[in-house]
Amino acid sequence: MIELIQIAPLRAWRSDRRAEGQRIALVPTMGFLHEGHLRLVDAAQARADLVVLSIFVNPLQFGPTEDLDRYPRDLDRDRRMAESRGVALLFRPSVETMYPPGAETRIVPGSTASRWEGAMRPGHFTGVLTVVAKLFHLVDPDLACFGQKDFQQVTLIRQMVRDFDWPIEIHMVETMREPDGLALSSRNAYLNPDDRMVARELSLALDAAHRAWKGGEGRARNLEAVIRSRLGGKPQLQVDYIAVTDPTCLTPVEEANADSIIAIAARVGATRLIDNIRLGEGIG
Ligand code: PAF
Repeated sequence: MIELIQIAPLRAWRSDRRAEGQRIALVPTMGFLHEGHLRLVDAAQARADLVVLSIFVNPLQFGPTEDLDRYPRDLDRDRRMAESRGVALLFRPSVETMYPPGAETRIVPGSTASRWEGAMRPGHFTGVLTVVAKLFHLVDPDLACFGQKDFQQVTLIRQMVRDFDWPIEIHMVETMREPDGLALSSRNAYLNPDDRMVARELSLALDAAHRAWKGGEGRARNLEAVIRSRLGGKPQLQVDYIAVTDPTCLTPVEEANADSIIAIAARVGATRLIDNIRLGEGIG
């Protein structure tokens, strides 16, 4: 596995691969890899000749009171994991490389970013789109893979690619879960054993809504009530939102169908977690 931290050698590598006609996939990450990231790598391998994995903890997508400083990092482990899964190139630029002094241009998302995560985390998706746009331009991939857990993020990245006519396929890969249903996330590392027990309630609540829907309940407000009652009464769990939405523009729906997305964000102790399902699929 090649490892690069500078832009010029990355571009040279990419241009050689283009000359060879190689199809390149990008898996952008913030590191502290887990099996969910490796599934993105697998999905990328299945669709491309070579996979580039980027590791960059992007300061632009963290709010001033968020966890940028304590975001978990373990480069040696990440390197081993990426290599073991056949990543061809690991790109891990510094903050100065991605945002040299004076870099102030941003990609600002449209109204799809105004709800849910976008409302809870002002500026977050501007940070995400700006770094993803830059990575797309540096790596020039034929395709890129993102996880379903960040459903709004994938939706906005798809919109950006469509709005700017970039010839990049965006693939969304199903959320990987712990055996008890908890969605894999680098932030799960923050959970203490008590919080970890409570964190599983998010996927159990989504599963309860899925079962209610399969049982014939289609009204969004009733599906939300199923989730609220499952999550209620747990002092260390605070719900930020429960969204029952259309899958494309993420607007709330009154009547849910198989394509509707149910998304939850909640704080468990000091850790903020998100999860979602497509109603027709459930938690898988
Ligand atoms: O999903 C993430 O890990 C990040 O938001 C991403 C896409 C790598 C951009 O920093």
